Amino acid sequence: MSNTLFTPTTLGKLQLKNRIVMAPLTRSRAIGNVPNELMAKYYSMRAAAGLIITEGTSPSPNGLGYARIPGLFNDAQVQGWRRVADGVHAAGGRIFVQLMHTGRVSHPANMPAGSRVLAPSALALSGEMWTDSSGMQPHPVPVAMSETDIAQTIAEYAGSAKRAIEAGFDGVELHGANGYLIDQFLNTATNQRTDQWGGSVENRIRFAVEVAKACAAAIGADRIGMRISPHGVFNGAVPDARMDELYQRLIEELNDVGLVYIHIVDHSSMGAPPVNAELKAGIRATFKGKYILSGGYDLARANADLDANRGDLVAFGRPFISNPDLVQKLKNGTVLTAPDPATFYTPGEKGYTDY
Ligand SMILES: Cc1cc2nc3c(=O)[nH]c(=O)nc-3n(C[C@H](O)[C@H](O)[C@H](O)COP(=O)(O)O)c2cc1C
Repeated sequence: MSNTLFTPTTLGKLQLKNRIVMAPLTRSRAIGNVPNELMAKYYSMRAAAGLIITEGTSPSPNGLGYARIPGLFNDAQVQGWRRVADGVHAAGGRIFVQLMHTGRVSHPANMPAGSRVLAPSALALSGEMWTDSSGMQPHPVPVAMSETDIAQTIAEYAGSAKRAIEAGFDGVELHGANGYLIDQFLNTATNQRTDQWGGSVENRIRFAVEVAKACAAAIGADRIGMRISPHGVFNGAVPDARMDELYQRLIEELNDVGLVYIHIVDHSSMGAPPVNAELKAGIRATFKGKYILSGGYDLARANADLDANRGDLVAFGRPFISNPDLVQKLKNGTVLTAPDPATFYTPGEKGYTDY
């Protein structure tokens, strides 16, 4: 078996020591939405990865939909994240922050005073979500964003990208996957607008493209990647007939912006429908930057997909939760420890820094 996974590569101006990416993983340990020492320890324990992508982090008070997720829009958060980035760099790693605006996947009980649940259209996500103050609560009907809200939100992404560099991050991943705000614009189930931000493929990709452009203008496109989940069904996303065309157009636009990578979510290992092979191949052929594969990977499949040139890097999610030394274990062929889903989102060290 080849060992391409352990070979170095580049990402923009960065050198990466291997092709192993720690996938973005929400862990809900950021009390008060500010990164802390415990989080710095957790990330530095995993710095043997070629690249760490942090948990989803909100660029705005309006995007803090889940309990205890971090933000990156004020000075305390920049200081907290600086400890994380410094720790990872001291341990020889590289780290991007994932900017995740939750949009309608939210509840006011999780959000700071004065913030608003925003989405492209006033369509509530069905079901309930966890809040620390009141337990499980139904998702509210979001406010359909005005032109002013959209312009302000795009500016918040760009401001957060600047703060990411201030905090010492090597770059930013824009979360365009899994039914959060950017994906809410892409998808017809959540975007029923009739203005320039909805309807046609060109209109539905506009928000993703404008966010990418604004962040590129702020920190340079060679420090920005985007995660997308074509045919995803998480958080009420519904595939439609024009989905392949939409993602193909989005990739062309992101090429023009010059993004450094595209990160494809395929959650078929978690029960979601698979992303069709033609679309993956089309994205691979069209996109000029690096391609990160993700979803249900082990060593053999990672090497096989890299050797077949289906991607350049491979992200591992759940294996990194329960194996901080994942890189060494994969090298040695050591059996991996299974993660405990009961502690995925609970506060404190248990199931976080004690594996
Ligand atoms: C506990 C947990 C939290 C996650 N949080 C995020 C997140 O914040 N952002 C994101 O893009 N994906 C998130 N994901 C999805 C993972 O990045 C990854 O795509 C998924 O776990 C499949 O990869 P795996 O089979 O290697 O675990 C999360 C997954 C899990 C299990």
